[in-house]
Amino acid sequence: MATPHIAAEKGDFAKTVLMPGDPLRAKFIAEKYLENPVLVNNVRGIQGYTGTYKGVKVSVMASGMGMPSMAIYSYELFKEFDVENIIRIGTAGAFSDELRLKDVVVGMGTCTNSNFASQYHLAGTFAPIASYKLLKTADQVAEKLGIPLHIGNILSEDNFYHDDPNVNEGWIKMGVLAVEMEAAALYMNAARLHKNALAICTISDHLTRHEYATTEERRTAYTQMMEIALGMAVELDA
Ligand code: HPA
Repeated sequence: MATPHIAAEKGDFAKTVLMPGDPLRAKFIAEKYLENPVLVNNVRGIQGYTGTYKGVKVSVMASGMGMPSMAIYSYELFKEFDVENIIRIGTAGAFSDELRLKDVVVGMGTCTNSNFASQYHLAGTFAPIASYKLLKTADQVAEKLGIPLHIGNILSEDNFYHDDPNVNEGWIKMGVLAVEMEAAALYMNAARLHKNALAICTISDHLTRHEYATTEERRTAYTQMMEIALGMAVELDA
């Protein structure tokens, strides 16, 4: 049955959904990699496609930008469409000196400045973590493809622009690798609904070295991340 933000039927989505932030990226992935892709959602232009990859049913749908948007779509996919695995494939800004543009970072855990966890009324601070099953699968698939991964803590922030120019320093001191804007909400929805989630991010900019990937560099780097996520969908179906 349709939900407020997804006009599809149960069964329209695969067990595993890849989620880029950008709807046009969802369309690109569907057209480039999936056989027989069918548009299953287009409410608010949040394009969702289901097709097959190496014979396995796979969906790809955009999350939009930021935790509120990711939270809405991931919640509805998990809760109403029987989705088991959501793999975010996005970009992140690097904090760590060890990271280079186009590197692939996997969020083993997420820090956040969002208040999203307050809804659970916990007697302390919740630690949003990746699903170990998905993390292990990503590691195995990346190794097979010869793509090095940087696995560690990432930051999911509510704001892209900051009033305080030194806002990143504390996170850098704590060894946080990179910053993006969606993973923490995805990990908390997965935890609450007993589902699986993982965020894979390509470094599009370096926040201390002030480097920015070119459009062409972003395109090729993104390809590596997509191939890891698609390979995971195949492994998770086995
Ligand atoms: N901040 C948040 N999200 C991002 C960034 C950033 O600097 N770069 C890519 N995604």
